[in-house]
Amino acid sequence: MVVFFSGTGNSEYCARYIAKLIGDEAVNSARYIRNKQIAQLSSEKPWVFVTPTYAWKIPRVFASFLRQSSLTGNKNAYFVMTCGGSIGGAAGGLLDICKEKGMRFRGVKQIVMPENLITMFKAPEKDEARQIVDKASPVIAQCAETILSGRSFEKPKYGFLSFLQSEVSNPFFYKAAVKADKFYATDACVGCGTCAEKCVMGNITMKNGRPEWGNNCTQCMACIGCCPKQAVEYGKATKGKTRYHCRSFEG
Ligand SMILES: Cc1cc2nc3c(=O)[nH]c(=O)nc-3n(C[C@H](O)[C@H](O)[C@H](O)COP(=O)(O)O)c2cc1C
Repeated sequence: MVVFFSGTGNSEYCARYIAKLIGDEAVNSARYIRNKQIAQLSSEKPWVFVTPTYAWKIPRVFASFLRQSSLTGNKNAYFVMTCGGSIGGAAGGLLDICKEKGMRFRGVKQIVMPENLITMFKAPEKDEARQIVDKASPVIAQCAETILSGRSFEKPKYGFLSFLQSEVSNPFFYKAAVKADKFYATDACVGCGTCAEKCVMGNITMKNGRPEWGNNCTQCMACIGCCPKQAVEYGKATKGKTRYHCRSFEG
């Protein structure tokens, strides 16, 4: 079973692609996370967990989801992490999760996809985004081929920098940046509710036709990336920046 977490569609795209190639089903963890439900899943085939990279680790919310879920059946766990540049030393944390769950860690594969963290960086324009995804296609296919063959993903080389990124910078990033306090809707908002519908945490409620953000944000960028009117901003950091969602380069 392929289980994914995705804010702006990159990991969903990879998960569904892999699921198709290995002839398995893809399950969206948001279904459970949004509703604060404990997942009870069973798979005869190996587990494939597909997720974005948040500060060189898997998102805390997805790590908690995996820890809390009942995952029975096959004991093999493959991880696929999409990222804008690097997953750093994320493997360490994944190994811990597998140990806790009594699963066999079959490695982690990094797939570079378009950057979505527009509160800090710039997302690529349409053409560049399409090129990045095209470049990722053979890597995704390679993942599927490795899983089908029963081999483990190749061991990536991690140095001291990767350790610093995942174990030292990650907690700082969470403390400083992972909150919803600066999100707001501009006058361009038409009250369509897409942001609330797409929020993987269920953290946005519509009040009098306007979105309001609660304090359970994981900064997945779905609200800002999916708004059809580009009416969501994060303080001044996102003003004038290209919005990104994996579907946006298709049309
Ligand atoms: C909160 C946050 C933190 C991120 N941290 C990293 C990072 O450490 N390294 C990296 O290469 N990309 C990072 N990114 C970029 C995403 O991992 C990347 O764009 C990913 O493919 C998005 O997946 P999604 O569309 O499925 O949500 C970060 C994005 C967000 C929103």
